[in-house]
Amino acid sequence: MESVQAIKQRFEIIGNDPKLNRAIEKAIQVAPTDISVLVVGESGVGKESIPKIIHSLSHRKHGKYIAVNCGAIPEGTIDSELFGHEKGAFTGATSTREGYFEVADGGTIFLDEVGELPLTTQVRLLRVLENGEFIKVGSSQVQKTDVRIVAATNVNMFDAIEKGKFREDLYYRLSTVDIPLPPLRDRKDDIHLLFRKFASDFAHKYKMPPIKLDENAIQFLLKFRWSGNIRQLRNVAEQISVLETNRDISALTLQSYLPTEGNNLPSVIKDKKSENDFSTEREILYKVLFDMKSDLNDLKKLTLELMQNGSSKVQETNKNLIQKIYGSHQDDSEIDYEDQNELSVIPVQNVVPKKDFEEQEDSYLFAETVEEEEILKLEQKEIEMIKKSLEKNKGKRKAAADELGISERTLYRKIKQFDL
Ligand SMILES: Nc1ncnc2c1ncn2[C@@H]1O[C@H](COP(=O)(O)OP(=O)(O)OP(=O)(O)O)[C@@H](O)[C@H]1O
Ligand SMILES: [Mg+2]
Repeated sequence: MESVQAIKQRFEIIGNDPKLNRAIEKAIQVAPTDISVLVVGESGVGKESIPKIIHSLSHRKHGKYIAVNCGAIPEGTIDSELFGHEKGAFTGATSTREGYFEVADGGTIFLDEVGELPLTTQVRLLRVLENGEFIKVGSSQVQKTDVRIVAATNVNMFDAIEKGKFREDLYYRLSTVDIPLPPLRDRKDDIHLLFRKFASDFAHKYKMPPIKLDENAIQFLLKFRWSGNIRQLRNVAEQISVLETNRDISALTLQSYLPTEGNNLPSVIKDKKSENDFSTEREILYKVLFDMKSDLNDLKKLTLELMQNGSSKVQETNKNLIQKIYGSHQDDSEIDYEDQNELSVIPVQNVVPKKDFEEQEDSYLFAETVEEEEILKLEQKEIEMIKKSLEKNKGKRKAAADELGISERTLYRKIKQFDL
């Protein structure tokens, strides 16, 4: 049996922390069996190397190893990705497709972010775990496969179970053995070691002398919270390696590369007020967004009517707008649409002079540009809100998604889409 030390070397895992060693040891021990394993730990702690170790030390090592990020696949296609589909199973299913569970027969599947699986997929997964059976989407024929599953999660699965988002039976089936990985802040002796390793890697990569931390900087490094764990440490080492011409790094310089938000500093008292402020601000932002969108729709409608049907139809649209503002009246004839002074609704032919085609086209283009700008603005607001919520919730996507009133999956995709 390969030693923990040898595995660390083979998989380029740095550190001597006892909990890290124990995790690797457990991986070595379970590898030859077909037991399902759940790797648990915060984001960026290095969960991805565990399933690779398990696969490469198992009798399946010549079989396929497929890593699936369950959070990144849209809910509508995940069953088909995992279990395949029959021709004609849904629009666009022009041919039969094999899913990962069929392709990886005899191998290992790593289900990363398993907590993100939709409940319907969880049912299929449970079945395949229990007896190796699955059914392609749109088929009625049961198929067999022999796949070892290693799953990983950075969310609290008990929370997910309590909220009805994850099946308890599946959780226990997946975590026959669990392998916890410690957060970086609990691996004090490894932090500087890792930093030096990254500094040396980046010095090599960028062909510069390695950066070196002074004593105060080392102390700062050890006290920092590292909520993004090794991934965050690596990013910081890379930024400093690229940007600092003076290769001796002081605590002040190091600090300037680290976020100062409360999430990384020891927070003594959580400021309740700021939470309230945030939700009020969020409500206002939502309102602004909805108002903007509804204004935009009205404007689009008006422009379109104008271009297509001339003034009579536009008056009709005005009428609808007035109804929208004042509420609908049982007898429309009560309102004289041409005489609504307070509303300044003037028959359109008076405001918009007859245009030749070119001008009409111009206004159409203008409307499109405005629309694009509005979309951009909306996007910026969305990004701001997501960032703020993530910072506030210390990067916890579940809490942020709850706060934003969107699903975790949607939040996950937005983070990817906007590269947050
Ligand atoms: N012990 C280690 N030595 C060297 N590099 C490491 C170590 N652990 C993790 N890393 C590096 O840190 C980065 C993050 O690791 P990884 O992608 O495995 O995190 P993760 O736990 O899967 O996080 P997430 O839950 O966000 O997916 C990777 O670039 C990985 O190579
Ligand atoms: Mg990962």
